Amino acid sequence: MADWDPDLYHRFRRYRDEPVAMILARLALASDARIIDLGCGTGEHTVELAQRCAAGSALGLDSSAAMIDRATALRASLPADLQARVAFARADFRDFAADREYDLIFSNAAFQWARDHRDLLARCFRALRPGGLLVIQMPANDRETAQLTIHALASEASWQAALGTIRTPSDATVRAPAEYAAMLAEIGFTDIDCHYHVFRHPMDGPAEVVEWSRATVLRPYLDALPADRHDDFIAELTRRLEHGYGTSGPLVFEFRRLFLWARSAAN
Ligand SMILES: C[S@@+](CC[C@H](N)C(=O)[O-])C[C@H]1O[C@@H](n2cnc3c(N)ncnc32)[C@H](O)[C@@H]1O
Repeated sequence: MADWDPDLYHRFRRYRDEPVAMILARLALASDARIIDLGCGTGEHTVELAQRCAAGSALGLDSSAAMIDRATALRASLPADLQARVAFARADFRDFAADREYDLIFSNAAFQWARDHRDLLARCFRALRPGGLLVIQMPANDRETAQLTIHALASEASWQAALGTIRTPSDATVRAPAEYAAMLAEIGFTDIDCHYHVFRHPMDGPAEVVEWSRATVLRPYLDALPADRHDDFIAELTRRLEHGYGTSGPLVFEFRRLFLWARSAAN
C-alpha cells in the first residue's frame, strides 16, 4: 500500500487528538514509567507521554517511513533531557514481543490496521510489568454514513472488480467492546474497561468528510484503483455523501471510537 501522508492525516489534527486528550485526562503514570507507543505516527503522543514522567522513557514504533521520518525530526527538536528519554523506530508492531518491560503500552488509532488482535493483546500482556497498563483506542465507525457509503459504492458494478472485496479497517478487524472484555480477561488482564465513545466533529460539508477519509479508511481503496480513476471515485463518493447527509453544507460528522483499558495484575 502507498505510504501514509502525514500532512493529510494532520489536516484534522484537532479532532483526531480528542480521544488522546480523553485518555490523558484519566491516565496516572509513575515518574519512572517505561512506555511503548504502538503505531506512533508522527510521534507527538509518544513525546507527550514521556513528558508526563520526568524520569521515564517512551519508545514509538511505526511501520511507515514517512511517519517515522517526521517523528525522528520531532525528536531532534526536543530539549536534550526529553530527547534522551524518547526514541522512535521503524517496525511492524505485529512482530512486537517483549518480556515484562513496560509500565504502559499505548496505541492510538493504529491497532485497527492489524488483524489478529487476540495474539497482539497476548503479546502486550507478556510485555507489561506487573501492574502495568494497556490503553488502546481504535476507530469503530463502520456504521456511520461515510463508511457505509464507501462500502456500498465500492460494491457497485463500475467499481466492484477493483474494490469489491475491500473493507474498512473498523469493519474488517474491530470487534465489539464485550468481545474485547472477554478476550482480555481470558488472557489474564484485570481492571478491564472496554467502551465506545462517539465524538462529534463539525465539518464544512461532505467534501471534508471525504478528505478526512482519504487520509485513513480510503487508503486501501485508492491504492487498488488506477490513478486515473481516483478523481471519479472521489467525486462520486462526495455526491453520494451529499445525498446521504442531506446537505452539501455544514454537518456534524459523528465518529465512534473504541477504548480498551486493562491492567496486568500486580504481583
Ligand atoms: C491513524 S495513524 C495514528 C498515528 C498516531 N498513533 C496518532 O494517534 O496520531 C495509524 C498509524 O499506525 C501505523 N501502523 C499501522 N499498522 C502498523 C503496523 N502493523 N506496525 C506499525 N505501525 C503500524 C501507521 O503507519 C500509522 O502511522
